[in-house]
Amino acid sequence: MTVRSELTLEGPAPLRGSIHMPGDKGISHRALLFAALADGASTLTGLADGDDVARTRAALEALGVDLHGETPGPVRVEGRGVDALREPEAILDCANSGTTMRMVVGLLAGRPFHAVLAGDAALTRRPMGRVVEPLRALGAHLDGRAEGHLPPLAVRGARLVGRRLALRVASGQVKTALLLAGLQAAGTTEIVEPAPSRDHSERMLAALGAPVEQVDAVTVRTRAGAPQPFELAVPGDPSSAVFFAVAAAVTPGSEVTIEDLALNPTRIGFVDVLRRMGAAIDIAAGSTRLGEPAGSLTVRAAPLTGTVVDVDEGLIDEVPALAVAAAFAAGVTEFRGVAELRVKESDRLATLERELGALGVGVETGPDRLVVRGGAPRPATLESHGDHRIAMAGAVAANAVAGSSTVRGWSAVAASYPRFADDLATLTGQTS
Ligand code: S3P
Repeated sequence: MTVRSELTLEGPAPLRGSIHMPGDKGISHRALLFAALADGASTLTGLADGDDVARTRAALEALGVDLHGETPGPVRVEGRGVDALREPEAILDCANSGTTMRMVVGLLAGRPFHAVLAGDAALTRRPMGRVVEPLRALGAHLDGRAEGHLPPLAVRGARLVGRRLALRVASGQVKTALLLAGLQAAGTTEIVEPAPSRDHSERMLAALGAPVEQVDAVTVRTRAGAPQPFELAVPGDPSSAVFFAVAAAVTPGSEVTIEDLALNPTRIGFVDVLRRMGAAIDIAAGSTRLGEPAGSLTVRAAPLTGTVVDVDEGLIDEVPALAVAAAFAAGVTEFRGVAELRVKESDRLATLERELGALGVGVETGPDRLVVRGGAPRPATLESHGDHRIAMAGAVAANAVAGSSTVRGWSAVAASYPRFADDLATLTGQTS
């Protein structure tokens, strides 16, 4: 689907109705990779339809995995086990997707062939030492720019030997890469993080019978083995839902229900934050699939007040949306522990400072903090900076503020949510 290059919205436009999000991006990447590792066919329904997950699929195809069907319909993955992967003929293009690069390099660390992973200009600036160093410690041969700290990365897999790995940064992507490598390594691989990160891989792999054991909140252990083939209907993405949750919370007269959403506790810290700020939110539990809870979320508009937010509350990708909530809240909101935002798809502390500033909102940033002085945002021309979540944060603000605002560089949303503008228009009743 082609996405327009600019989005202009006339606010305030209340949101009403119910909606399904695209499939969770984190679960989608993992489901594709785990299905490729399994020996037998898996069927995945409702995979995320953005470009990031398409990159992981394309990488697997380049490695010789047969996949049939287009998302959101069922995608059949003909898994034949890790030994069936073959040397790719061309560079694996990860485009904007850090998740693809970090996870696929983990998968390839134990394969006896050569591969190169590259990405777009934004991905080429993102730190890779955090995954390269522990993979080297398992015995993999990896190289890249700046001694392996920056893409492109070259990998020549080797016979891996498990060991204890103490990570410098907590990262769901790095942990997953190391689990993918650990499943191919001799002996035990133990991964210890400085703080808990999202635990989809542990939940899904354990549910699929792979030898993965969560030892405590920051430690996971694995040894050689593989997941079984499986069927999965991927629940909706909370990191996409947060934009509608905030849009509903800050636009008077709104009430939105988001159906069949992933409710993994490591992902929904934003719910507590919005409740603390005064939003009215109900959660209804639904089914659990591969250890992943899902359910629906209903959000009603309410006057918000500022709060203190810590990323250890189970949020990170949600900060751009929450910063918009803070912009419409009375008083000051302080985000702490947010240094990692500087190395996401854009330097999100810098890009938020600029874009909220354009809306007339007072913002201060430090190396590890973001302070938003809420008030009365005014219409503006905003920029995505090539970052899908900054684009959607801009749209949420534009939809709530009185007057006409534009988000430039809107096509960045293709990474995770190509249909965002259509879904917003459906909820605001502005479909033509
Ligand atoms: C992800 C983990 C997070 C998140 C990213 C996806 C994952 O990054 O920001 O969008 O799927 O594991 P880190 O790996 O840096 O925690």
